[in-house]
Amino acid sequence: MRIAVLSDVHGNAPALDAVLEDVARQGVDAIVCLGDHVSGPVDPAGAAARLIGLGAYSISGNHDRWVVDTALRGAGAVDRFAREQLNTKQLAWLADMKPVLRVSGEVFACHGTPTDDEKPWLDNFFEGRMTTLPSEADVGREAVGIDFPVILCGHTHVPRSLRLSDGRLIVNPGSVGMQLVRGSPDAHYAIVEKRGRGWQVALNAVPYDTEAAALMAAKNGFPQWGESIRFGWAGPESLG
Ligand SMILES: [Fe+2]
Repeated sequence: MRIAVLSDVHGNAPALDAVLEDVARQGVDAIVCLGDHVSGPVDPAGAAARLIGLGAYSISGNHDRWVVDTALRGAGAVDRFAREQLNTKQLAWLADMKPVLRVSGEVFACHGTPTDDEKPWLDNFFEGRMTTLPSEADVGREAVGIDFPVILCGHTHVPRSLRLSDGRLIVNPGSVGMQLVRGSPDAHYAIVEKRGRGWQVALNAVPYDTEAAALMAAKNGFPQWGESIRFGWAGPESLG
């Protein structure tokens, strides 16, 4: 079984197109999308239309909750912008999503951790323009009781995988559409595959027309996203 894992598209339709083209070339049995689908200034409605058309396994992220209900604490300008762009059907699609899901009895998917869509897992969250690695104990604690050989998470936008001492594989595919802190503006996603010796992962980075995406963000009133989109070195504090 071969599964494409996408997360944190953040409304970046051109980045999503590049990833979907690469996924089509690779051939997969299923696509899983780990949330924060539309909150962003490039093309939220375009991203929603593509994702709905995919028929992927999808869960909600913290920003999806905030787009659905912009009165919630944490919702910001870009969540409100995304909400304004979506039609009724797209908003209903977002509102219907659950926070976690299971695929074929072997894969568990969440946005942040299994119990919290705002909590980072494989990396500590941003300190300015840096992240730091959590301890083995911190990582393991969140996986207690998640009895699946593959556990997927997103939220930090930092692609990384690790294998727990009992063999379970945890994968964060990084972000399709919003690159932070690592100087890699490419669209990121992962492929997990069950082979003879168990589950393996490939973390992919796909180039796309970042200049066009940055100009779309500026045209929609968010020029401050240009640094993140063009260079991937921005910290979350600069997105406003
Ligand atoms: Fe996100």
